[in-house]
Amino acid sequence: MAYHHILLLLHLLAATIWVGGHILLLACYVPAALREKNKHIILDFEKKYEKLGMGALLVLVGSGIAMAIDYGIAPTDWFSFAAPVERVVSLKLLLLLLTLLLALSAQFNIIPRLKAGNNNLLPLLYHIMFVTALGILMLVIGSFVRFGGI
Ligand code: HEM
Repeated sequence: MAYHHILLLLHLLAATIWVGGHILLLACYVPAALREKNKHIILDFEKKYEKLGMGALLVLVGSGIAMAIDYGIAPTDWFSFAAPVERVVSLKLLLLLLTLLLALSAQFNIIPRLKAGNNNLLPLLYHIMFVTALGILMLVIGSFVRFGGI
């Protein structure tokens, strides 16, 4: 099996875990938490999913960058927005940065406040929706590579 093919399979498996986990959270756990007015339903899911989710994100970044380099897109080309596949890579890196900023704000701001007794689930809900949308967007943008890029 070719090197690039193995990277792509790892990338797709990690994308399944990352995007699938967030859709599961949004479609099943968030409605239950709102219905039962119980923030622990979401907090418990986050706690269990955290290691798997962060591992998947690391694999996405690692395999994504390795595939980009395999396509001849070196770090010095990133963010030039000059070529179709490079544009995909640069856009994904920007969306990744946004995802990481949101993850940090959840870990160090929103979740500690909920644990400290705040019961307003809305900030966390917006955060989950935004991260899920970013994940789906990265998946859609990634799918353009096989059609030549953006
Ligand atoms: C949440 C994050 C991400 C998700 C959900 C995601 C998802 C995907 C998906 C579904 C594909 C399509 C593969 C295909 O059409 O066969 C893809 C391709 C690709 N992604 Fe990502 N990706 C993510 C992050 C990244 C990052 C951070 C990079 C790094 C620059 C990256 C680089 C690439 C590249 C280069 C391809 C083209 C692979 C190929 O077709 O040979 N991705 N991605």
